[in-house]
Amino acid sequence: MEVQSKHIAIEKSTTTKIHEVDFNNLSFGSVYTDHMLVSDYKNGTWSVPKIIPYQPIALDPASKIFHYGQSIFEGMKAYKDPEGQVWLFRPKDNHARLNKSAERMAIPELPQEYFMEGLTTLLELEKDWIPQSPGSSLYVRPFMFASGTGLHASPADEYKFLIALAPSGAYFSGKVKVLIEETYARAANGGVGYAKAGGNYAAQFYPTKLATDQGYQQVIWTDDHNHEYIEEAGAMNIFIRINDTLLTAPTSDRILDGITRKSILELAEDMGIETEVRKIKVSEVVEAAENGALKEMFGAGTAAVISPISAFGYKGEEYVLPELEHSYASTLKTKITDIQYNRAEDKFGWRYRVC
Ligand code: PLP
Ligand code: COI
Repeated sequence: MEVQSKHIAIEKSTTTKIHEVDFNNLSFGSVYTDHMLVSDYKNGTWSVPKIIPYQPIALDPASKIFHYGQSIFEGMKAYKDPEGQVWLFRPKDNHARLNKSAERMAIPELPQEYFMEGLTTLLELEKDWIPQSPGSSLYVRPFMFASGTGLHASPADEYKFLIALAPSGAYFSGKVKVLIEETYARAANGGVGYAKAGGNYAAQFYPTKLATDQGYQQVIWTDDHNHEYIEEAGAMNIFIRINDTLLTAPTSDRILDGITRKSILELAEDMGIETEVRKIKVSEVVEAAENGALKEMFGAGTAAVISPISAFGYKGEEYVLPELEHSYASTLKTKITDIQYNRAEDKFGWRYRVC
């Protein structure tokens, strides 16, 4: 949707919480900056976004978000280099995916100009909140939901789009053990698995709780048909190294088209690592674990970056992965974060200068 780009109005907060934050000990997504971006969809159009002090949102109890779950989000990070310059990573891809999710959830699409101008203006205002301690960044959470009211099960006529910012450290603390799912499914053919719909995550919480009760941090989702193929994790796409080949499942209407995933595939190919994007049988991974061909598994996502998997559980057995000195996970993590934090040349054109 074409709109004229306009200046974003800023209502500045009269106080700041920045001095209460320990920037060297950040958890993931639990403190928020002083301002947020808001745009309202009413009478068939999105308002020019504005920046206001971070605050609660008042909603009518009949808002459709509460009843029918029309809610989507994105996840991005802003990075600060040693010179204090601020960068994003492939932000227009996040905007495109937001609109893909919006279409699937019958939410009106947001113009790219509003997303990009709103985001960059907010980041420029909040740049002092971007941490520079190793492994930390400013997590960016754009989200959209149905604020319009009515109990008729149909799309709302009003929506809100917001961006909140959270200075954050690592998503996982310590080693990541995963459980390969045999009963529940995250997504089905023709469903909403490819969308970043809030409900996709809510539906994972119960099976993930069962997995955490057994000592695993994430579920590895398998196909809904007969749990024969590996698809992705709760908050990450999955990579599996068998001998020297790096495998990942093809995206589909069940799997989120991860920006980290596609970047890793390009980086790996550029480095001469053999990659295969194909359906991966659980039985093949178990067999590789048993005969020593399974070298690595790792998750990839914005929040998780590249998180090596130390072990996986399947049918009551635990399979421990070897600890490699020169793993693909650590090499690829260095490559991608060097681009993100402006420590290396970016021949792919992924880095986006904010200010
Ligand atoms: N898969 C799921 C279910 C996710 O929630 C995420 C996180 O956004 C990813 C994969 C990775 O996507 P991206 O690399 O774009 O963050
Ligand atoms: C992200 O990686 O940005 C995500 O949105 C995953 C989320 C569950 C933290």
